[in-house]
Amino acid sequence: MTEELNHGQTPAIHGSRIDAYVDRYAARATGMVASEIRALFAVASRPEVVSLAGGMPYVTALPLDMVGELVSDLVTRRGPVALQYGSGQGDPHLREQICEVMRLEGINAGADDVVVTVGSQQALDLITRIFIDPGDVVLAEGPSYVGALGTFAAYEAKVVHIAMDDQGIVPESLAQTIYALETAGAPIKFLYTIPTFHNPGGVTLNVARRQQVLDICQRAGVLIVEDNPYGLLGFDGEPMRALRADNPDGVVYLGSFSKTLAPGFRVGWALAPHAIRDKLVLAMESAVLSHSSFTQLAVGQYLATQPWREQIKSFRELYRERRDALLDALEVLMPPEVTWTRPAGGFFVWASLPEGLDSKAILPRAVAERVAFVPGTGFFTDGSGARNMRLSYCYPEPDRIREGVRRLAGVIEQEIQLRDTFGTGSTRGHAGVDTPGPDLA
Ligand SMILES: Cc1ncc(COP(=O)(O)O)c(C=O)c1O
Repeated sequence: MTEELNHGQTPAIHGSRIDAYVDRYAARATGMVASEIRALFAVASRPEVVSLAGGMPYVTALPLDMVGELVSDLVTRRGPVALQYGSGQGDPHLREQICEVMRLEGINAGADDVVVTVGSQQALDLITRIFIDPGDVVLAEGPSYVGALGTFAAYEAKVVHIAMDDQGIVPESLAQTIYALETAGAPIKFLYTIPTFHNPGGVTLNVARRQQVLDICQRAGVLIVEDNPYGLLGFDGEPMRALRADNPDGVVYLGSFSKTLAPGFRVGWALAPHAIRDKLVLAMESAVLSHSSFTQLAVGQYLATQPWREQIKSFRELYRERRDALLDALEVLMPPEVTWTRPAGGFFVWASLPEGLDSKAILPRAVAERVAFVPGTGFFTDGSGARNMRLSYCYPEPDRIREGVRRLAGVIEQEIQLRDTFGTGSTRGHAGVDTPGPDLA
C-alpha cells in the first residue's frame, strides 16, 4: 500500500522497518523478550536430538482411551453446561475436588477460597497483576522458574534473588535481603517460592527451614506465593506439608493439574485469603471472563470417576526411573569437576560446570552433538547462571537419557580441554530474562 492510498489513516509498513509500531508499545512490553536460544531449540526438537531441555510431562503414560471416552461422554451428557460460559471463580464442584487434592499436603481449605485458573501460569499472572506496580520488588529464589520471571518482567517488577542451596532457600539470605530492602525503602510485594522439587533447582526446602521462612516473612509482613506444581510427584514417602498448611493468612498457594494429569487441560488454581481471592476473581474476569467450562468439567469428571491417586503413583514411578537413569549416567560419565543436585521428586536436575565454562556458549556445540539442555542464565534476572544448566528427565525414555548424558559429557570434556589449552575466552555474562517457550517451561 502506498502513502497516497493510505489516506494518512493507517501507518504504512515500508522499507526495512519491520515493525511499524515499534515506538508505540507500552513500556512493559520491552520487558517481554524472546529467547535468543529459541531458534536453537527448534533444531533441538528434531528426533535425533536427545532433549534434556524440555519440561513436558510424559502424557503418553495416561490411559488416553479413557480420557477420550470421558470427554465424549461429557459432551453427550452435559454439553449445554460444558460448552457454556462459567463463573469467574471456577466450577464449584471442581473447587471442592481441588480442596481434596490439597489435603494430601496438609492444607485444610474451603472451596470458596479457590480460584480456578488457566494453568498455574495464569494464577501467577493474576497475582502479579493485582500486586505489582512498576519497580516493585518481588523476591525469588536464584535460580527461579523462567515462566514466573517472564511474568514479573512483563509487569515491570524488580526481581531480587534469594540464595538457595541443596536444602532450598537460605533463611539467612532471605532475612538479610528483606532487611536491606526495607532499610532502602524498597516496597517488597511478595516472596515467590517453589519450595518442593524446585524448577530448575531440583531441590526441596527442608522442614526446619519451612518454619523459618514462614516466620521471617510473617515478621516482615511479606506475603508468600507458594508455587507447587510438583508437590505430589515425590519419589519417597508422603508428600511434603505445604507452606500454606501452616499459615493460611500469609500464603497464596498455586497448584496445577498439568503434571499430575495433563497440561493440555490448562487447569490450575490459586488458594488465597478472602480479600486477595476477591481481587483474583475480578482480575480473572477482566482477563478471560471465565475459564473453559469444558476442561474444568473434564478434569472434575476425571477426578470423580478415575483412580487419580493411582495415576499419580504411576507417574511417580515413571519419573523416578528416569531420575535414576539421569543421576546414574551423570555419575558414571561426567568429568569430575561437574556437580549437580539430586532431586527427590519433580522433573529437574541443576548442574554446575567448572570455572571458565559457559553453558550458553556450549549449547550450539551440544546441539551439533545431538543433545540439548537449558542454559542457566535464563533462570536469573541478574546475569548469573553462566556456569549452570538445567537437565530434565521427565520426557525422554531412560535409554535416551543415558545416551544424551554420554553426548553431553563428551562435549563438556572437550570444553574443559579447550579451556585448559586456550584459557577462558568464551565466558561472558548474560543479563535479561529468556523465555524459551512453553515446552521448555
Ligand atoms: C514452577 C512452575 N510453576 C508454574 C508452571 C506453570 O504450569 P501450568 O501453567 O501448566 O500449571 C510450571 C510449568 O512448568 C512450573 O514449572
